[in-house]
Amino acid sequence: MKQTAVSFRAAKGDHKLAMITAYDYSIARLMDGAADAILVGDSLGMVMMGLEDTLSVGMEDMIHHCAAVARAATSALVVCDMPFMSYQVSPQQACENAGRLVREGRAQAVKLEGGADFAPHVEAIVRASIPVMGHIGLTPQSLHSLGGYKVQGKSAAAAQKMLDDARALEQAGAFALVLECVPTPLAARVTEAVGIPTIGIGAGPHCDGQVLVWQDMLGITERLAPKFVKRFAPIGDAMRAAFADYAAEVRSGSFPGPEHGYGMDEELLEKIY
Ligand code: KIV
Repeated sequence: MKQTAVSFRAAKGDHKLAMITAYDYSIARLMDGAADAILVGDSLGMVMMGLEDTLSVGMEDMIHHCAAVARAATSALVVCDMPFMSYQVSPQQACENAGRLVREGRAQAVKLEGGADFAPHVEAIVRASIPVMGHIGLTPQSLHSLGGYKVQGKSAAAAQKMLDDARALEQAGAFALVLECVPTPLAARVTEAVGIPTIGIGAGPHCDGQVLVWQDMLGITERLAPKFVKRFAPIGDAMRAAFADYAAEVRSGSFPGPEHGYGMDEELLEKIY
């Protein structure tokens, strides 16, 4: 069954939701069917482009990668991140760029970072019939104003603001909410306070679903994985070993073997000689 923003939202209270990031066709093919949603995250700046943070990722990058993922996803919902400064300026700018992610990137929903301040932006996009996933807690595009990548909502005021933000985004029409780096009890409180699914990353087990960056969960990246990442398989080690084996076999001449080549008609060969 093809997941939609409507079926995704309806899962709250019925079953947990699994979302994984992907940025290309082959990897998205592997996770389609397992994941309820595939997120083309702006984390692609770091894991695909080698950038220091997500701030330099642009609309063209997102569209390019989202279109590749969308071609692969036959059952998972495809959610695409709105990159830094593609929506912050105004609800109109948000609406126009969300439209590009759907029209050119074939996204089925968009995700944007921010709380109540961005409710008008969410409302404008939803009014254009584009489903929106909110993202609160640690919002990496606000790296400089937050003072770094830190757990959020640790004071009473910050926790209350997070609850207010979650309610404002639900009210604005968001169909789900990512909670990033939020203390487990606060994420549980937000989850029970809203009628839309919360998708946690570093937000504990009480959220309605979870999301991880695929390179983190399979050990592909060399960056230090955050505490909330579980390595589900050491694929990075296996890949590194395979690349080294290949290079060694090329150098020793043992690859390619006779079974990897193509034959030719003997008579034709004689004529050539
Ligand atoms: O960009 C991303 O991959 C994300 C997830 C970490 C939620 O926003």
